Amino acid sequence: MKDKVQNLLASIHEYYGYDLTDYHIDFSIRAVKNEMSHQSISDIDTFTETLLKDEFKLNSFIRCYLINVSDMFRDIEPFRIFREQVVPDLKSYPRVRVWSCGCASGKEALSLAIILEEEGLYDRTIIYGTDINQKALEAAKRATYSIEDVIGFTQNYYLSGGKRDFRNFYTINWEIKTVHFNQSLLKNLYFSVHNLVSDKVFNEFEVIFCRNVFIYFNDNLQKRSLRMLKNSLRYRGYLFLGHSEHMNFKGISEHFRMIDSKHKTYQKINDEVCI
Ligand SMILES: C[S@@+](CC[C@H](N)C(=O)[O-])C[C@H]1O[C@@H](n2cnc3c(N)ncnc32)[C@H](O)[C@@H]1O
Repeated sequence: MKDKVQNLLASIHEYYGYDLTDYHIDFSIRAVKNEMSHQSISDIDTFTETLLKDEFKLNSFIRCYLINVSDMFRDIEPFRIFREQVVPDLKSYPRVRVWSCGCASGKEALSLAIILEEEGLYDRTIIYGTDINQKALEAAKRATYSIEDVIGFTQNYYLSGGKRDFRNFYTINWEIKTVHFNQSLLKNLYFSVHNLVSDKVFNEFEVIFCRNVFIYFNDNLQKRSLRMLKNSLRYRGYLFLGHSEHMNFKGISEHFRMIDSKHKTYQKINDEVCI
């Protein structure tokens, strides 16, 4: 199965230009199996032929790679570390540039906007939220979520050190049971497509959050992406990864000091560009 999946991904790259070859192989095998069952195809050779002939079916398969699960103040502790250990340092900066990459529907970027607003830094901050999934980014721009979701976000907000009444950050539309976050929080938030596999450094940042994206990448792609993130951070800038992610790669880890090992928080301490 492994060889056939690798051949399928190589053919998709060659025929259509979508490069999925460096995603974690176990993840790709799972994606192929799920999509074969969804398309009622039991044989991988037939599946390969089908995808190479039918772009509509190919697009359905590619959607397996766009897992957009997210939450505001997800996992709580990284946001407490950001508020308590990073924000005091950012206060000495004339401007703050933050990159939330693989931001899905923008909940992480919005959480950071709330903290920076509360801490009096938002007016001199720009937050870029990027993802490969255009649909998720459209949802991010709307900043509208269901009331049930916001109940969970509220709890996370207080547990991560939130100080205000969370209800002040949004208005509720009771008719359609949705919550819309305030325009004042969206004014310095920019969402756009950026692919960690193929796109390059596009700015310099004081803070980068890249959480729960590398879990789908193999070591080679993680290393390549980490190098790009490292080159996008300014000296003494901060990087947050997801709790099951790491940067234990030669040529990368030497450029950082660990701030919190459990919550994968790092600070760049070496300004040489990695190639
Ligand atoms: C599980 S979500 C994580 C969302 C958010 N960072 C969080 O931790 O809540 C993973 C996101 O990574 C995005 N993604 C996957 N491959 C990517 C790539 N090559 N470049 C940019 N984003 C990617 C997916 O589209 C998805 O929105």
